[in-house]
Amino acid sequence: MNPPIRVGVLTVSDRAAAMEREDLSGPLIKQILKERLGWDTDLEAVIPDDFMEIKRALMKWADDAHMDLVLTTGGTGFAPRDITPEATRAAIEREAPGLAEAMRAASLRVTAHAMLSRAVAGIRGRTLIINLPGSPKAVRENLETILPALPHALALLREEPGAEGGHRIQAA
Ligand code: MTE
Repeated sequence: MNPPIRVGVLTVSDRAAAMEREDLSGPLIKQILKERLGWDTDLEAVIPDDFMEIKRALMKWADDAHMDLVLTTGGTGFAPRDITPEATRAAIEREAPGLAEAMRAASLRVTAHAMLSRAVAGIRGRTLIINLPGSPKAVRENLETILPALPHALALLREEPGAEGGHRIQAA
């Protein structure tokens, strides 16, 4: 029996961090992960659009808290304060571009604004970190796209017995 997946959900928003706006996206991510994959969320936080704060949280959650998966929401657009992709890139060691490519490709069928998301995904140690856009609608649409690949992605990162075999089953 493999140990449960450890998940962190990081909301990046100046206004939510200042309690000027309710964070709807973080709770929505938690709800979707629970309903669709049966995964509980171990860590959650709401922080402002600050490069060092984002980078520090991602590094801590990966290195000290040993999260398997960290999903961020917000700060991926073109506004001057949108810095989540840069902070994520500073924290990851290996890029996982396919996840962000898939999200943008699927989202483009819904809205042309999908091309305004600069979201990145990557790996730090054994932690997969994925940026999602900020709005609940965008969170739902983007998360739906990558959900089918997440269990296998984490099985590979965790070197679970049989994870490599999953490739052969899928390819057959
Ligand atoms: N992707 C999907 N699927 N649905 C959306 O509504 N909104 C877009 C984009 N991606 C959207 C989407 C918009 S309007 C922006 S500005 C970017 O994500 C970045 O959002 P963020 O700045 O909230 O992170």
